[in-house]
Parts: sequence; structure tokens; C-alpha cells
Amino acid sequence: MGKQISKENLKYYIKTFGCQMNERDSEKMAAALENKGFSPSLPQDADILMVNSCAVREKAEQKLYSFIGRLCLEKKKDAKLIVCGCVVQYKGKEILNRFKDVNAVLNTRRIEDFEQVLKDVLNGKRIMYIPSIMRNPNKILPHLKNRTGAFVDITYGCNNFCSYCIVPYTRGKEISREKEYIIKEIRMLTQGGVKEITLLGQNVNSYGKGLYKNYNFVDLLYDISKFDDIQRIRFVTSHPKDFSCSLILAIKEIDKVCKHIHLPVQSGSNRILELMRRKYTREEYIEKALLFKETTKGSITTDIIIGFPTETDYDFEQTMDMLRKIRFDFSFSFKYSPRPFTAAASTKERVPKETKEKRLEKFQNLQEKITWESNLRDVGKIFNVLVEGDAKRGALLTGRTTTNKIVNFSGEAKKGKIVKVVIQEAKKHSLQGNMEDSYGKFENQRCGFLRR
Ligand code: 5AD
Ligand code: SF4
Repeated sequence: MGKQISKENLKYYIKTFGCQMNERDSEKMAAALENKGFSPSLPQDADILMVNSCAVREKAEQKLYSFIGRLCLEKKKDAKLIVCGCVVQYKGKEILNRFKDVNAVLNTRRIEDFEQVLKDVLNGKRIMYIPSIMRNPNKILPHLKNRTGAFVDITYGCNNFCSYCIVPYTRGKEISREKEYIIKEIRMLTQGGVKEITLLGQNVNSYGKGLYKNYNFVDLLYDISKFDDIQRIRFVTSHPKDFSCSLILAIKEIDKVCKHIHLPVQSGSNRILELMRRKYTREEYIEKALLFKETTKGSITTDIIIGFPTETDYDFEQTMDMLRKIRFDFSFSFKYSPRPFTAAASTKERVPKETKEKRLEKFQNLQEKITWESNLRDVGKIFNVLVEGDAKRGALLTGRTTTNKIVNFSGEAKKGKIVKVVIQEAKKHSLQGNMEDSYGKFENQRCGFLRR
């Protein structure tokens, strides 16, 4: 330790567990390193290695420890290892004690000072950085270059304290970034060629609370849509309790806002929703979700927790019924996992593991069928797709529809362009098609009959 890393051919490696907020945090660190001349590499070749951890479920936490152990064995002897993210918030000290090769641990609030952390680590210090507040949430942190899409934080933290969720304890109190800084960050991104912005927050719908009296998330969407160079605007995550009619109308009205919402329902049972402290009923959720679908013709994805403490067969059937009623285009479903600090973790009446597994399988089987049917209905339709991968002759391009479906297609187009693609085939989790050429014909004449 203490040995200086050579300034030539500097390499970094980063592993990200968890959500899009973590992905964005990893990007901030990767971009800071690239600005200093580092380039990405395999772990065994890296001079700096980072692991960005997720605390949402116990399994992710367990995977983290075995992953760090493996990196300690694989990495170059003098390489520096930094562990960051949500787990560090409550296990930072333990990680430093357990893994002698870890050089620094930092929580999510310390990412803003990553350059200082880097300096300290390269100077041979072994440190724990776990501040309780962010110094400057408005600070514009670096982005990786040459991207079509970019994540932009609009809020940090969460005030909701759902009874199963560790996030308010790891990411702290909700705080909104001032709109001027968000706009400035987006302007910088457009100058770098970004075409799609995804606004990030644990609950984007509460943007502006505690900061503005007369400015909210809908206002922010309208302001961002004024950027000529931005072609698409997405956002995650929406909380059903704050998902409003004015937002549904804005999604319909603003062409650039993608017609997709991720609206985690968690359970279809009112009794369980109350125990989860979600602050909405199944009836309210259904009303909002169906109104969104009807108004925007958009897609809905969700998160589901199976086997929350005391969940009965009846409660679970209510969740199945919710799936049948809303017909989510996709869902992320998880077995309940008790987490430290959370209210639900102390409940004694746990659902047995086998029951959780059976219910999860049943839910996922039906979801898979519904996703497949939703994809099948798209065959023969023409979609606007934002190209996310550069054209290579003969090779498939990739992009997404406004409804957030992945489309792989043949044709020639530049990254960042919106092209028309006719869907020929539905896959389990994506669509396959051909690009319409500049004369309005399809590259593959087999689908000519679809043009009426
Ligand atoms: N157990 C299982 N799933 C959880 N999630 C959050 N906390 C838990 C937990 N303790 C899920 C929720 C949330 C998603 C990000 O992770 O569905 O929306
Ligand atoms: Fe967790 Fe609930 Fe906050 Fe989402 S809204 S991060 S589930 S506490």
C-alpha cells in the first residue's frame, strides 16, 4: 500500500449491483476516472476497482461479500479497491475490517466528492467516508461520453419509509435538486450528443417538495421538453400515491415524454398495502393505471413483493387479480426479504420459504404469458425506435420503442436517430423487425404487405 500507480495506461473496473440510481452513481465515478485518463478493463488488469453495492434484498448483500472476496484474490497486488453504495451505509466498518485489501468505503452521499476519495486512496490512505448529508446535491457530476441516453438525478433519497424498504436508511432524506442545475446538466448533455434523458428519483412525482411552492414534476417535464435536441424523456420511479391526473395529461400531451410508466404496486391486497405503508388502495391504483393506459395508450411496468409477512392465499390471489386486471407489460417480482432497520423485519409471522417460492412461480408464469401476448400484439405494427447502437452492415441494431420495449432490427442507421421499424417477430423479452428505408419501403420486402 502507498505505492503510486503509474500514470500511463491506467485502468479501472467497476461492478454495479442494484438499481438505476446505482448505475448513475457508478457512471459518475467511471466518468471521473476516464477524465483522468483511466480506461475500462477486466478486474485482473485494473489499477482501481470499485464495487457499488445494493442493500434492497439480503441476497444482493450476500453476493457482495463473495464478490469482494473474489476481487481481492483476482486483482493486481497494488491495485486499489473501493467499496461504495447502500450496504456501506451500515456495513462500511465491517467491510474494512473483514477485507484487508479494501482501501476505502464510501456511502452514496460521498460520491459527490469522489475525486477527493480517489486522491486519498492513490496516496495510500485507507479510509471510511460515511457522511450523513450531501454537501451539495446540485453539483453537476460527470457523465460518460458518446452516449445516446443519459440518467439525470432530480431527487436524492426517500421520505416514504415503506415498512419493508431499507432505502430511506441508506440513501437518506429526500432532497430535490434545483431546476436550474438540472436544466444546466441537460444542456451540457445535449452538447455532447445525448438524445434521451431519463430523470431519476426514488419518487419522481414528489419532485420540488420542500424546495418550491409553485413548481413540480410536471413543470419540470414541460421545461425539459423545450430542448430541441432532446428527442425523448423518460423517468423512474413513480409512486402510485403521488401519480397525478396532471402527470397523465402531460405524458399524453408532450410528444417527447415516453409513453411508459414504472409504477410499483408491490401487492394487490389492501390489507398488505396498509401493512407496507404504501398509502394507496388497490382500487386507487387500478383507477390510475387504467386511466393512464386509456389516455396515453402507453405501457405499464411494476414491482411486486411476494410473501410479505402475514400474506395469505387470499392476499396473494388479490395480487394475481391485479395482474389480470392491469396486464402489466412487464414486472420485477421478488420474494420478501427482511431488511435491517425496517418496520416489517420485526414481524414474527413470516410466510414460509416454500410458499413464497410457489407463489412467485405462479405470478411469474402468468406475467410471462401476458408479456408474450403484449409482444405478439405488436407484430405487424410500425414503431418509432431510437437507435442505441451504431449501424454495422448486416448486423442487428438495437433501440427501444416509446413504450420501452427493446427492438432488435436490421437496417442502416446512426446512433441517436429515431427510425421507423416494422415488427416481424415477438420474442419473450424483446421485439424483432426491419427498418423502413428512406423511401418509405421496408428493407425486407417480406413485410411489404403490411403497408396499406
Ligand atoms: N424484499 C423484497 N423486495 C424488496 N424491494 C424493496 N425492499 C424489498 C424487500 N425487503 C423491492 C420493491 C422495490 C424494488 C426496488 O425492490 O419491489 O420497488
Ligand atoms: Fe423504498 Fe418505498 Fe422509498 Fe420506494 S418509496 S425507495 S419502496 S421506501
